[in-house]
Amino acid sequence: MRISVIGAGYVGLVSATCLAEMGNRVRCVERDAARVAQLSAGRLPIHEPGLEPLLRTQLGSGQLSFGCELAEAVADAEVIFIAVGTPAGEDGSADLGHVLQVARELGQSLAHNCLVVVKSTVPVGTCERVQESIRQQLSERGMALKVRVASNPEFLKEGSAVEDFMRPDRVIIGAADQASINLLRRLYAPFMRNHERILCMSLRAAEFSKYAANAFLAARISLINEMASLCARLDVDIEEVRRGIGSDRRIGTHFIYAGCGYGGSCFPKDVRALIRCAELEGMEPGILRAVEARNALQKTLLFQALREHFGGQLKGRLVAIWGLAFKPGTDDLREAPSLVLLEALLAAGARIQAHDPVANAAVAARYPQAIGEGRLRLCESPYETSEGADALVLVTEWKQFRQPDFARVRALMRTPALFDGRNIYDPQQLFELGFVYRAIGRPSLGVAAADAA
Ligand SMILES: NC(=O)c1ccc[n+]([C@@H]2O[C@H](COP(=O)([O-])OP(=O)(O)OC[C@H]3O[C@@H](n4cnc5c(N)ncnc54)[C@H](O)[C@@H]3O)[C@@H](O)[C@H]2O)c1
Repeated sequence: MRISVIGAGYVGLVSATCLAEMGNRVRCVERDAARVAQLSAGRLPIHEPGLEPLLRTQLGSGQLSFGCELAEAVADAEVIFIAVGTPAGEDGSADLGHVLQVARELGQSLAHNCLVVVKSTVPVGTCERVQESIRQQLSERGMALKVRVASNPEFLKEGSAVEDFMRPDRVIIGAADQASINLLRRLYAPFMRNHERILCMSLRAAEFSKYAANAFLAARISLINEMASLCARLDVDIEEVRRGIGSDRRIGTHFIYAGCGYGGSCFPKDVRALIRCAELEGMEPGILRAVEARNALQKTLLFQALREHFGGQLKGRLVAIWGLAFKPGTDDLREAPSLVLLEALLAAGARIQAHDPVANAAVAARYPQAIGEGRLRLCESPYETSEGADALVLVTEWKQFRQPDFARVRALMRTPALFDGRNIYDPQQLFELGFVYRAIGRPSLGVAAADAA
């Protein structure tokens, strides 16, 4: 099929590349010319495992190409995906500026019948607005075309985006007509080889499903985090509780890990957008507000624990941080818990040595002043961060951090205190190595000894 994808971010780029991999001819439109040049040269502007080799193969085969000109790229497309960003607006609602801009441009340039598919996460009713905008532009140009609009929200996860797109749990198609459904079924058929996972529904249900899914997942995280805070007060280890409840098939083991909060480009903004949507409908979204409030609190816990550990005096302390990306497998920093910690530590006068396997460059671009003043140093290895550190904080649970040589880390640190923001370490092992160990919702070990010293 001849496909166009508008937007070459995490979603657009992965979708375009995977669709090309299945034999479609894909033209990807991106307004950022530098990004287009980089992609056209086969270089990825983002970190996404497995994507670069596919990109290079598809560029080489001519199946995939990038450009800035929308009109040219959509000229003969049968299906046009809109995959531009929908960031949070000032009041929390989804900012539809980019989506509606693309709709206008499509209406101004289309000269053939085609299907426009909204892949961006958008509030209920947006596909109807896109349809209306295209129709209006076409009628102003005196064009009598049949341009249909469908919803196809994306569920890929950064860090495993290629795998998720190639083998999706489900593909949701929201459409008002059978022809659109048939076309999208045909497009997705190669991704459904072993069993059918396409779910068809109304446009509005498809739009809402994406928000509902993210709200559910965020709620599970905030609920286990609230349980963890209670566990900490009751001298109960949340990790034992997690195993205890995860074995219940009605609950399951996913998304019940206590930690220092969720971040990323989706959960925070989508929960906020749903809150705003409820407000506009005159409904009080009490649970969603609590999910968000708990997450905001959770992101501050590591700093609070550090402050308590140092008796309120963080000025001049050297803190090592492992992991900066909002989760393993990506270099995305959007709403990352690490940023809340970094900023609180810098404001308190602490010095930081941090390492992330792929996000160092993104952090360097954000904090040039702190780096210039020597208050933040980005290190090439986790061991380098430990040199002379008064405390070590694990924020993002990259595999590289799972089984470090703790004896070496301890020898490098000035004082061995470990704050485990993802509960991945064995408290007893660390205690025996002489560390003070604090985590999220687990009894602290070695704290009394450190206080006495
Ligand atoms: N990132 C994820 O994990 C994820 C997962 C599922 C759904 N989503 C949703 O998908 C959408 C895109 O997310 P993303 O993370 O890929 O965003 P992103 O910010 O990484 O990428 C969006 C891209 O679109 C480009 N763009 C904006 N306006 C344009 C225009 N008029 N013409 C051409 N290009 C334009 C931007 O320059 C940018 O490169 C959002 O609605 C998001 O909520 C994201």
